[in-house]
Amino acid sequence: MKVQVCIIGGGPSGLLLSQLLHLQGIDTIVLEKHSRDYVLSRIRAGVLEHGFAALMREAQCGERMDREGEIHEGFYIAHDDVMDRVDLNKYSGGSSVVVYGQTELTRDLYEARDKMKGNVVHNVADAAPHDLKSDAPYVTYRDGDRLVRIDCDYVIGADGFHGVSRTSIPKDVLREYERLYPFGWLGVLSRTKPVSPELIYSKHERGFALCSLRSQTLSRYYIQVPLTDKLEDWPDDAFWAELKRRLPQDVAAKLVTGPSIEKSIAPLRSFVAEPMRYGRLFLAGDAAHIVPPTGARGLNSAASDIYYLYHAMVDHYKKGDDSGLEAYSQKALARVWKAQRFSWWMTTLLHRFPNNTPYDDKLQETELQYLFSSEKALGSLAENYVGLPF
Ligand code: FAD
Ligand code: DHB
Repeated sequence: MKVQVCIIGGGPSGLLLSQLLHLQGIDTIVLEKHSRDYVLSRIRAGVLEHGFAALMREAQCGERMDREGEIHEGFYIAHDDVMDRVDLNKYSGGSSVVVYGQTELTRDLYEARDKMKGNVVHNVADAAPHDLKSDAPYVTYRDGDRLVRIDCDYVIGADGFHGVSRTSIPKDVLREYERLYPFGWLGVLSRTKPVSPELIYSKHERGFALCSLRSQTLSRYYIQVPLTDKLEDWPDDAFWAELKRRLPQDVAAKLVTGPSIEKSIAPLRSFVAEPMRYGRLFLAGDAAHIVPPTGARGLNSAASDIYYLYHAMVDHYKKGDDSGLEAYSQKALARVWKAQRFSWWMTTLLHRFPNNTPYDDKLQETELQYLFSSEKALGSLAENYVGLPF
C-alpha cells in the first residue's frame, strides 16, 4: 500500500494531523498500537489553548468542544489559606482557555476520521519505520502472522513518549535533555460537582494539589505524592482527606466527595529530543517532548507541532515549497522550549521539593509574592498559560 503520509500513533497528535491533511486532499494512514477503547480510556489533559481550539475548528472537529467545553477566563492559586485569582483575560489582553478533556477531543477526532472514511488501523504490532534517509521510506507492521508494508513520502512519529519513532533516530544524531522530579501526581476523576467553577492550583506545605474539572458534573483532582507511593496506598477516603488538608478551609468545607471513577499516578518529567526531524521522519507531540503537567502544556505543545507540520506539508504538496519542512524542527523546538520553561517554572513555584533548604523555601514564597504584586509578572504567566503565538 502507498500513501503520502504514514502516521505512527493514533493519539491526539496523529489523529489531528491526519484529519487536517485529509481535508486538504493529502492522503494519510494512522497506525495505532492499541484498540480505540483503550486509547479512549486514558484520562489525561483538560485545558486547551485558544490556538489549539482554533485548530480543532479548522479540522471540522470543534462543534462539540464549542458546545460542551467551558471557556475559562481565569484560575486561582491558593496558598497560605488564601485564594489569589489570575485574571487570564485581563493579563493576556483578552484571551482565555477552553476546558475540554483530552478523551472527548480524541473521541471527536476519531468520529471525524470515521465520517471521512479516514484510514486508521488499530492494534498494529511492531510498527517500524525504514529507509528514512532515502526518498522512498516505508513503515512495516504485523497484523497477526502477516507483515504489512506501507510505502510513503513521509513518516510522522506521533507515537508518544514510549513509541518506536524517536528510537529509530540514530543515537549519534539525537540529543536528549531530561529532568526528573522527585514526585508524581495522583489523579482522581469523580462524578461530583467541581468544588470551584475555575481551576484551583494549591501550594501547600504538605504538597501541591489541583482542583480541575471536565464539566459541571465531572471533577478532576490531583495531589502531589512521593514517587514511591502506589495506588493501593490511596483508597478514596484517604485521597479526599489529603486533598482537603491542602486546600483553604472554606474551599475544603465545600468539597463534594464521591467514588473515584478513575485513579492513576503519573511521575513528573521534563524531556526534549532534538532534532525533531531525521530524513523523512518528523516527530510530533510526546514522541519528542514531555512536560510536567502543572502548566497544562503537554497536549498543547503537541498541538503546536501539528500546526507547524500541517502547514509545512500543505506548502510542500500544494505549492512545492519545502521551506516549512526544512524549518520544522527548529520552529517547533523554539516553542517547545518555551513550554518547557513555563512548565518548569510553574512546577517549581507550586510543589513541595523534599530536598529544599530553608533558603529555597523562602525564594519560592518570594516568587509567589512577587507574582501577585506585579502586573508584568501576571502578564507573563497569563500569556504563557493561554498559549504563546504559533
Ligand atoms: P499520545 O497521547 O501518547 O499518543 C500516542 C499514541 O501512539 C498512543 O495512542 C499510543 O498507543 C500510540 N503508540 C505508541 N507506541 C506505538 C507504536 N509503536 N506503534 C503504533 N502506535 C503507538 N497533559 C496535560 O496537559 N495535562 C495533564 O493532566 C496530562 N496528564 C497526563 C497523564 C499521563 C499519564 C500522560 C502519559 C500524559 C499526560 N499529559 C497531560 C500529557 C498529554 O496527555 C500528552 O501531551 C498528549 O497525550 C500528547 O499526545 P500525543 O498524541 O503526542 O501522544
Ligand atoms: C488538568 C491538568 C493539568 O495539568 C492542568 O495544569 C490543568 C488541568 C486536568 O487534567 O484537568
